Amino acid sequence: MPQIRRILVTSALPYANGSLHLGHLVGYIQADTWVRFQRMQNHLCSYVCGSDSHGTPIMIQAEKMGITPEQLVEQVRQEHQADFAGFYIAFDNYYTTHSPENKALVESIFQRHKEQGNIVKRKIKQFFDPDKNMFLPDRFIKGECPRCKAADQYGDNCEVCGATYQPTELNNPYSTLSGAKPIEKESDHYFFKLQSYADLLQQWTHHGHLQEQVTNKLDEWFQAGLQEWDISRDAPYFGFAIPGEQNKYFYCWLDAPVGYIASFQNLCARRPDLTVTDYWMADSKTELYHFIGKDIIYFHALFWPAVLHGANYRMPTAIFANGFLTIDGQKMSKSRGTFIKARTYLNHLNPEHLRYYFATKLSSRIEDIDINFDDFAKRINADLVGKYVNIASRCASFLNKHFASQLSADCCEPTLYKQFTEAGNAIAEKFAALEFNQALRHIMALADRANQYIDEKKPWALIKNSEHKTEVQAICSMGINLFRLLTLYLKPILPHTAQQVEELLNIPSLTWADKDHPLVNHTIREFRPLMVRVMPEQIHAMKVAAQQDLTIAPTQPHTKECKMHPLKEQINIEDFAKVDLRIAKILHAEEVEGSDKLLRLEVDLGNEKRQIFAGIRASYQPQQLIGQLTVIVANLAPRKMRFGISEGMVVVAGDPEGKGLWLIQPETGAQPGMQVK
Ligand code: MSP
Ligand code: ZN
Repeated sequence: MPQIRRILVTSALPYANGSLHLGHLVGYIQADTWVRFQRMQNHLCSYVCGSDSHGTPIMIQAEKMGITPEQLVEQVRQEHQADFAGFYIAFDNYYTTHSPENKALVESIFQRHKEQGNIVKRKIKQFFDPDKNMFLPDRFIKGECPRCKAADQYGDNCEVCGATYQPTELNNPYSTLSGAKPIEKESDHYFFKLQSYADLLQQWTHHGHLQEQVTNKLDEWFQAGLQEWDISRDAPYFGFAIPGEQNKYFYCWLDAPVGYIASFQNLCARRPDLTVTDYWMADSKTELYHFIGKDIIYFHALFWPAVLHGANYRMPTAIFANGFLTIDGQKMSKSRGTFIKARTYLNHLNPEHLRYYFATKLSSRIEDIDINFDDFAKRINADLVGKYVNIASRCASFLNKHFASQLSADCCEPTLYKQFTEAGNAIAEKFAALEFNQALRHIMALADRANQYIDEKKPWALIKNSEHKTEVQAICSMGINLFRLLTLYLKPILPHTAQQVEELLNIPSLTWADKDHPLVNHTIREFRPLMVRVMPEQIHAMKVAAQQDLTIAPTQPHTKECKMHPLKEQINIEDFAKVDLRIAKILHAEEVEGSDKLLRLEVDLGNEKRQIFAGIRASYQPQQLIGQLTVIVANLAPRKMRFGISEGMVVVAGDPEGKGLWLIQPETGAQPGMQVK
């Protein structure tokens, strides 16, 4: 008997302030497939996750919705849990970082580090919103780019010219929460001395715990020098208060990974076979794997091992990072209608089809993976419907009809069967090594071989002659046995179909060891179709629904506290008269290569045409705009941008968070060039 391994797998804890989208699913489907594979090997593999419930964005989102952060995170946690279940992600526990277990753990970890002198306190200066009375994270500050002067750029980089800078370098900065001009303010912060762990980490990152690409990336960071890590935040903040402090909280990225331990601890309460000591404490004999996306490597491969080690916990066995999802070769984008929520997909398409499609693209490397829905449909229809389930429908219905659903007493093609079981070893190696694409290549080659076998034997011709009856039974039994092996190999990817096949074959849940024993002398059940083709209409309907999700989102009423930008200083009529507002007709609109925000517009001003770059791409598709009338500032000095000269400005309404923009439009009858007074 091979040794039973005790394995704990975690997936990144999704933020509890928005819906899951197809991009999120890449990593969860990858981890779940691997977990299911380990379980089929009879290892004890636990899989935990939960909501990342703390931080400023969650606090702000709850405020906007007029509910408490606790209510928001619980609502989103349940939504995420249902979405994950829809994709057959089999967590043993889906908890939250806002839990009593997590609070106690973070406090004790912080305390241990403090005692060891790993934590220092010092004053830093940061932007502060005097209206909201809070310090502003970089993403809540916007202003004019210090280099190219483009308006409305984020606190850390300019999307127009690509410059990076400190938020304090912005010209005319404003808070995206209140519109107020932020002031610089001092406050005490706690810092974790990551540098103290430089040697340990450098060692650890070169000892097989990470993908090669990650190790290389980390080497660059080591060379740049490790910095102290700011682990505290000032009130108001949604998180855990730092004991002994007034109005200070642990930064959410400190308690987020600790949430893995908390989720596991919460699971242990109902699982006597699992303990935190066995899985998390130093010198543990168990295995610990973190599956994450490539954007959060720094937190998991540097901070986290250091935090664990210094507090007397074990370090991870390995960290697996996945690449990002692109759709039709591009980043998911609201304006292109390729921002697809997990639920929208579930409403139109089969979750196992996404699992399969991702698996055909997943390897152990951090490569971005692309989904193209035409290719998706072709792939599923050819592989799963055309090759795989086809075998069952060809053989099972014959057995049902002519042989009282009875399989032959022995396996008529032992050599072929052996080829299939031996291939199973190579397939297992590929699953274990996260080379799902290669595992599937092997499996689909076997599916071809099985179809070829049936094509050669032609049971449908033989059945016409009663002399060949036993032979037909043997062929169909063989076909069913090959189908059973394919099902076993596909089971980590297609758990639901595998379960239906187990019912059809009238067998207990398949594990990897079952492959060596063919099913003989056994009665199966009545065949029922296992899977249907993907139709282009379904894909179309899903895309339309994805588009609708977006147009609904920005107009959702804010139930409470919809704060407006504070009014600007008063001006007199002469000041106003200086602004020449005109009706313009949008003749042409297009996306600007290299900018997520801008659309390039050509407008007709009655007697002249102008080119305007407008930052409205998140709210409008170019096609929606063509032919529309709108209002522009016609006498704004032309501005040179990276993409060309902007000869005016479109007037739009926007909410304070910058979530949605609405074009200002005149009543019908207005003509291009008319003055707006
Ligand atoms: N809350 C943090 C993780 C804390 S773990 C202690 C977080 N949350 S997230 O909701 O932004 O992302 C959850 C996971 O989805 C992360 O692993 C992230 O890398 C991954 N992805 C988010 N967008 C993605 C794509 N477009 N494509 C692939 N993975 C993506 O990060
Ligand atoms: Zn710039």
